Amino acid sequence: MPGQVELGRLKIDWARAHMPVLSSIEQRFAREKPLAGTRVSAVLHVEAKTCVLALALKAGGADLRLAAGNPLSTDDDAVAAVVEAGVPTWARKGESLDEYNAGIRATLDFDPQVIVDDGADLVALAHTSRPDRGPVIGSTEETTAGVNRLRAMERSGALRWPAIAVNDAQMKHLFDNRYGSGQSFLDGLFSATNLLVAGRTCVVAGYGWVGKGVAGLLRGVGADVLVTEVDPVRAIEARLEGFRVRTLLQAAPEADLIVTTTGTVGVVRAEHLRVVKDGCLLANMGHFDVEISKPDLASLAVHRRVVRPSVEEYRFADGRRVFLLGDGRLINLATGQGHPAEIMDLSFALQALSIEYLVRHGRSLAPRVYPVPPELDRAVAEAALPSLEVAIDRPTPEQLRYADSWKEGT
Ligand SMILES: NC(=O)c1ccc[n+]([C@@H]2O[C@H](COP(=O)([O-])OP(=O)(O)OC[C@H]3O[C@@H](n4cnc5c(N)ncnc54)[C@H](O)[C@@H]3O)[C@@H](O)[C@H]2O)c1
Repeated sequence: MPGQVELGRLKIDWARAHMPVLSSIEQRFAREKPLAGTRVSAVLHVEAKTCVLALALKAGGADLRLAAGNPLSTDDDAVAAVVEAGVPTWARKGESLDEYNAGIRATLDFDPQVIVDDGADLVALAHTSRPDRGPVIGSTEETTAGVNRLRAMERSGALRWPAIAVNDAQMKHLFDNRYGSGQSFLDGLFSATNLLVAGRTCVVAGYGWVGKGVAGLLRGVGADVLVTEVDPVRAIEARLEGFRVRTLLQAAPEADLIVTTTGTVGVVRAEHLRVVKDGCLLANMGHFDVEISKPDLASLAVHRRVVRPSVEEYRFADGRRVFLLGDGRLINLATGQGHPAEIMDLSFALQALSIEYLVRHGRSLAPRVYPVPPELDRAVAEAALPSLEVAIDRPTPEQLRYADSWKEGT
């Protein structure tokens, strides 16, 4: 049996072999060293695909520190291998909240010039602690929840450096949030429960990018899917995709599974828990563990016990039981293995190019939230065509002239 470092290396090699776009960036970085001497701190889910990104940044010359962006999503083998490869890392699967916070703080004590964040915890901490720290050139943000936080900081005038919203790039949210979340949700659900999904009634709260992926993949494995929304446009979109759309109070009594994908707080609350049927599974795919109210669960329960790894049973006074998966944290990372490597290839290629962009141009940017430059989005799409076995037509000269004529208004 290989040791932990060797196991981690094998996992990283497996991921890298399925991440051709990031690998080609890593090779270019190794030649050109665009990040030479730049102190980079990254707070991400530390598993094999993230380690491929970390090693690509290191190949580019970055002086990198890595910490867990979630206490449950770490792969200890991958951590052992990336530490061995020279990236100081603070991450342990199942770490306490104190350890988790200490890890984030350690990456900050390193005085990063570039911050790579997933949920904006590190950015928020950097804004509130140690004002004597050296200047940050900029940061990149991986997820919707973090971009929402950054936008709020920008609006209130608090944001102190340029931040690139990697999440909002087309090659990120269209595929990572949707198809990556859909597949890795099923992975997490299957490994946590080992239960049948076909024929079960599953309620997906939220029909944004993650909700679309989760609802679509659940339907793909034979579930009867209901959607809940607060946005009328997205509710109609879900309806026209063929899903029943109900309020959560209407949907809860028939749910075998409720999964939250909203990015907001207190979606599944006491009023819903009072009407769910016996045996209902509760899972969350949103960034923070606040979508299923754990305080409400705790106050309604007369008895709690762990019945499988990452499955906690809450029994109510009337005998009904609900099962909370992965402690209400992102289930695809808590009990699954995260997004497929081919999807993270796209997201992390954008991260690597955005970090390079910040090092080149960040000092001349105002402290605002910026989109990924469209040419980088496009470059990742072009580079991904061969590995995804996609062939596209190119516009003919006549078609280009035709498009130009419209631009000129002729
Ligand atoms: N698990 C993962 O791997 C993963 C991947 C990407 C994003 N995320 C996280 O998932 C969350 C959602 O991301 P997204 O990109 O889909 O965001 P999004 O903004 O596209 O979608 C959220 C949707 O939830 C709806 N919503 C808000 N409050 C609601 C409520 N009370 N009931 C029902 N619907 C409600 C909104 O109207 C919106 O349509 C964020 O926290 C994001 O950070 C997780």
